Amino acid sequence: MTRPVAADADAIARAAAALRRGELVAFPTETVYGLGADAANPEAVRRIFAAKGRPADHPVIVHLHDEAAARRWARAFPEGAAALARAFWPGPLTLIVPRAPHVDDVVTGGQDSVGLRVPSHPVARALLAAFGGGVAAPSANRFGHVSPTHAAHVADDLGDSVAMILDGGASDVGIESTIVSFATDPPELLRPGGIAATALERVLGRPLRGGSAAAPRASGTLATHYAPRTPASLVARDVLHAELLQLCDRDERVAVMARTPAPDTPFDGIWIAAADDATRYAHDLYDNLRRLDAADADVILIEAVPEHDDWQAIRDRLARASHGVDDDRD
Ligand code: TXA
Ligand code: MG
Repeated sequence: MTRPVAADADAIARAAAALRRGELVAFPTETVYGLGADAANPEAVRRIFAAKGRPADHPVIVHLHDEAAARRWARAFPEGAAALARAFWPGPLTLIVPRAPHVDDVVTGGQDSVGLRVPSHPVARALLAAFGGGVAAPSANRFGHVSPTHAAHVADDLGDSVAMILDGGASDVGIESTIVSFATDPPELLRPGGIAATALERVLGRPLRGGSAAAPRASGTLATHYAPRTPASLVARDVLHAELLQLCDRDERVAVMARTPAPDTPFDGIWIAAADDATRYAHDLYDNLRRLDAADADVILIEAVPEHDDWQAIRDRLARASHGVDDDRD
């Protein structure tokens, strides 16, 4: 069982050496922890899929120290991509661009494009500097679990299958990078994330396909399935207490995550107080979802969040969390 180690200079040198040997190293980024392998070593990248229990045709993001290094993985780097790189790298942005000929199919999932990201977390940057090459890294969770934002989450999921886990504290942003694809024109928002679509569109000077203008409207109450075990609903604030009381009347154990305060009446279950501002909410989100998962509840209730742009990535993750077997839990 591999335990997290403090990411001092010695640990980072050992982690870079492990990557060179084709081993897996989990490391912190500002979004979530990544499960890293030498992106130029297909055998090593294949180990990622085995460790996660993830289908091998899913592409992985290549992490680089800077834009110059990133460009070596691209056959073309469109002007819009360069503008976003200048504005937001290092940071929580992944750019999908045409792949360079040397990029292996196991990295791209056989596609003609590659995902590139320059993270800002100091430990990630130190590791990338020490290693020198590209590090292929999906989120460091088992397939089907929420992404890890603490080293302990990684140890819970993957402690048996990684050579090292670098501990860099809690991930600042708390949700994954925003993904923009330049494999199409106009460029397309593939995943809302740490950088708001509106901020990207301002820099690009034009709307993204699937961007802020296309953001889905809120749903009121969505009752579906959460993980294989616990049914979860997104519930509007004004009916949250009433729904909870109804479930309690049926002797259900309930796990709630809400920005509004708990009712005064005691109930069987847990109440997780979520933050009222989007930045803090995102920071805590995956730890809170793990706690909801672990609460052994019959039902999970999640208070719906505002419609504002700042909450777009959070709405996306909550919708997925309440839609059952989650297509983003990879
Ligand atoms: O914040 C993040 O992006 C984190 C940290 C570790 O950097 N990584 C992450 O990786 O979330 P992962 O593998 O869990 O999610 C990456 C997503 C996947 O949905 C994958 O399909 C997509 O990026 N992706 C990667 N390369 C792609 C490509 N060439 N074309 C389309 N989608 C791609
Ligand atoms: Mg993932």
